[in-house]
Amino acid sequence: MSQFFLLILHRIISINMKRIQIINGPNLNLLGKRETGIYGSQSFDDYYARLQSAFPELELDYFQSNSEGDIITKIHEVGFVADGIVLNAGAYTHTSIAIADAIKAVTTPVIEVHISNVYGREEYRHHSYLSPVCKGCIVGFGLDSYNLALYSFLL
Ligand code: DQA
Repeated sequence: MSQFFLLILHRIISINMKRIQIINGPNLNLLGKRETGIYGSQSFDDYYARLQSAFPELELDYFQSNSEGDIITKIHEVGFVADGIVLNAGAYTHTSIAIADAIKAVTTPVIEVHISNVYGREEYRHHSYLSPVCKGCIVGFGLDSYNLALYSFLL
């Protein structure tokens, strides 16, 4: 098949693919090095490569920032065009009314994920400003929380 037809085929396939944005918040760039007893020893880059091969039917994009404003800007940027957002806002989960407002402002459904079981940890991690405005929450399955969140877009 010529390059041209392969290109057209690729376009047709990607038009029908759901576009999902993964957003990781503060300190999640240190996955694999940070508190490995809680968050595991795999880096997110390695795990992301596995996610991409596990979900060839989804068009995935990954963004990480340690800054609340950057996370909000990314939610605004993709929140009217993507089919879904998988968000681990890290500690901002427990503090950020601004991220909750950004989730409310956009039309794309957001799934809140946490690697650790926040309800089995310190009391201040038990409250989430984001859960009430998210489509659903997946908590405590290690990095597989992301896997489960992505799977929900195929149901
Ligand atoms: C976390 C849980 C948060 O309480 C914490 O601040 C994180 C990671 C998790 O994925 O388990 O940074 O979101």
